[in-house]
Amino acid sequence: MDRKAHWETVYTTRAAHEVGWFQPRPETSLQLIARAGVERGEPLIDVGGGASLLVDRLLDAGYGDVSVLDISAAAIDVAYRRLGGWANRVHWLVEDAAKFEPLRQYALWHDRAVFHFLTDPAERAAYVMVAMKAVRPGGSLIVATFGPQGPEQCSGLPVVRYAPSDLDGQFSAGFERVESVEEIHTTPGGAAQQFVYCRFVRR
Ligand SMILES: C[S@@+](CC[C@H](N)C(=O)[O-])C[C@H]1O[C@@H](n2cnc3c(N)ncnc32)[C@H](O)[C@@H]1O
Repeated sequence: MDRKAHWETVYTTRAAHEVGWFQPRPETSLQLIARAGVERGEPLIDVGGGASLLVDRLLDAGYGDVSVLDISAAAIDVAYRRLGGWANRVHWLVEDAAKFEPLRQYALWHDRAVFHFLTDPAERAAYVMVAMKAVRPGGSLIVATFGPQGPEQCSGLPVVRYAPSDLDGQFSAGFERVESVEEIHTTPGGAAQQFVYCRFVRR
């Protein structure tokens, strides 16, 4: 099954709060976004946002220019319906992050558990090129992946696990890391998963 088909199946067969990566409140992401110091009117994008509640909390916090990108139209549909009347405040993009052609620049790019699916070095390089085009100079890039002690698979797909220094190597062409945070995520089924979050600044 190709990647898009995999994710369309996930979001049409499983409830958003049952998937392993579900977070009732994306606290670490919100803290990192707050520390990036983005003005409320500046553009933010959640890449591979899926049905995450991050967009809801960003709107609550007063961010007025929020985009959510995902390869799965079904995932976007879940988030769109959940937001009801607020959905039209968000820019929704059904795209593959590694092939995305940004039409504008963002002050902040957030990716939790998407980059780690890119097991092909050429795809990783393409993703980094997209991020370099999409993030304005001085803007922020937050990437969260499974850490070195994290699982070898996510949603049944193989992943690459990263320490912060490994992520530095991936993004060094255009970004400089300013901090990293480890999080032990508990899945709805009760499993503990090590995540590594890195916040970079675009040179
Ligand atoms: C593990 S989930 C994480 C979802 C969300 N970021 C969160 O933390 O709840 C991975 C998400 O990335 C999306 N995805 C996977 N590969 C992608 C790609 N190449 N481009 C865009 N989205 C992708 C999936 O559809 C899914 O919503």
